[in-house]
Amino acid sequence: VRKLAVANQKGGSGKTTTTVNLAAALGERGKRVLVVDLDPQASATQWLGVADGGTALFDAWVNNGNLAAIVCNTPVSGVHLVPSSQWLIGTEKALLSEPGAEMILRRQIAALPPGVFDYVLLDCPPSLGLITVSALTAVESVIVPIEAHVMAVGGLAQLLQTVQLVADRLNPEISIAGIVACRVNRRTRHSWEILDTLRERFGALVFDTLIRENIRLAEAPSFAQPIMVYDPGSYGAADYRALATEFLERENGRRLPQRPEGPQ
Ligand SMILES: Nc1ncnc2c1ncn2[C@@H]1O[C@H](COP(=O)(O)OP(=O)(O)O)[C@@H](O)[C@H]1O
Ligand SMILES: [Mg+2]
Repeated sequence: VRKLAVANQKGGSGKTTTTVNLAAALGERGKRVLVVDLDPQASATQWLGVADGGTALFDAWVNNGNLAAIVCNTPVSGVHLVPSSQWLIGTEKALLSEPGAEMILRRQIAALPPGVFDYVLLDCPPSLGLITVSALTAVESVIVPIEAHVMAVGGLAQLLQTVQLVADRLNPEISIAGIVACRVNRRTRHSWEILDTLRERFGALVFDTLIRENIRLAEAPSFAQPIMVYDPGSYGAADYRALATEFLERENGRRLPQRPEGPQ
């Protein structure tokens, strides 16, 4: 199983939109995906049409419980979910004096039954606190969505610095799977400037696929449907399908030389 966090400490950068729709696009391709909603706002949970998870994830985290026990089915083909709820707000406080608190989630993700999921996607909250650091500690790679219609590139440096600290102290294998430009408006010069800056600074780390600004993507959560179901002919559906294609190509490229012990 490949474990990825979708992280950016900036709210509104497209984390949840990317997590849900990339998961659905991978599900469409026959991949088995587990989404773990780590945001107390539970937006991925609602979007995936699942009732709020109550205290379950909080309890599991704080009492070192079993994540597999709280995995739910979703109406989306191929996609399962560990649902969130506002109870997660208490995690940080509850684990304050716990030695090695950042490692708990890593162990729980690692203890998921083997062979059930191809991908685990962790949707992170908009901060660099314990929850996000735990997510970065639990995964092999990070997908970084960035909102391309505001000058959001500055915050990236801080995120990458946190990833580096996690690499130094907690999870040496972590890498950046890619930066995804979201909410791109091709008609504005501003969007192009941001894309140029991103590509200049981060080169091949930036996915070629752009997620365009598309009202259908903003509407879809209210209908609890991923974009491919809500409006399969929309730009949003096309873009997230293209992202899944590029993501899988990159996965294949990196898997061959690096992971001789993998199941595939
Ligand atoms: N490509 C897009 N086109 C239009 N609206 C978008 C797009 N991506 C995200 N949004 C909207 O932007 C807001 C923030 O997106 P979201 O994925 O929730 O960000 P985050 O999880 O990083 O806080 C939401 O209202 C969402 O509907
Ligand atoms: Mg979100």
